[in-house]
Amino acid sequence: MALERTLTIIKPDAVAAGNSGHIIAHLEREGFRIVAMKKITLTRAQAQAFYAVHSQRPFFDSLVDFMTSGPIIPMVLERDNAIVSLREVMGATNPEHAAEGTVRKLYATNIERNAIHGSDAPETAAVERAFFFSGLEQG
Ligand code: RTP
Ligand code: MG
Repeated sequence: MALERTLTIIKPDAVAAGNSGHIIAHLEREGFRIVAMKKITLTRAQAQAFYAVHSQRPFFDSLVDFMTSGPIIPMVLERDNAIVSLREVMGATNPEHAAEGTVRKLYATNIERNAIHGSDAPETAAVERAFFFSGLEQG
């Protein structure tokens, strides 16, 4: 398997609940290396841009409210097969359907307040890494 990079975000619910340390430890235990990390609060325009693919979905305004409700921790992660592996480690979008031991099963509240984001494909991973981090920061 090839070494690959992906973008994750510890979402505002998990940061506010004091679960960011647990989630970072969980990701490191699963073999992800943290290439870059920061703690920021998104503006509405930034959250709308990041989740633009969902702009026509009924949950979009609520998602933007949620993602701007407090600080988030975006990270670039590296691992063999990082993109697919992160999605497995995260678990299903709705924590009711997430497998035991996944981040969302452990830390999500509901389908919206679901603790973590992960890029879903190589193309989106590249765009999403560049959304948060410069090339220099991902050295
Ligand atoms: P993410 O993009 O954050 O990694 O999550 P995902 O791929 O598992 O799910 P996606 O379909 O891309 O949805 C993005 C985020 O929007 C919120 N959502 N709310 N109320 C709802 O029905 C609903 N559906 C999705 C969640 O925060 C979800 O992670
Ligand atoms: Mg998604």
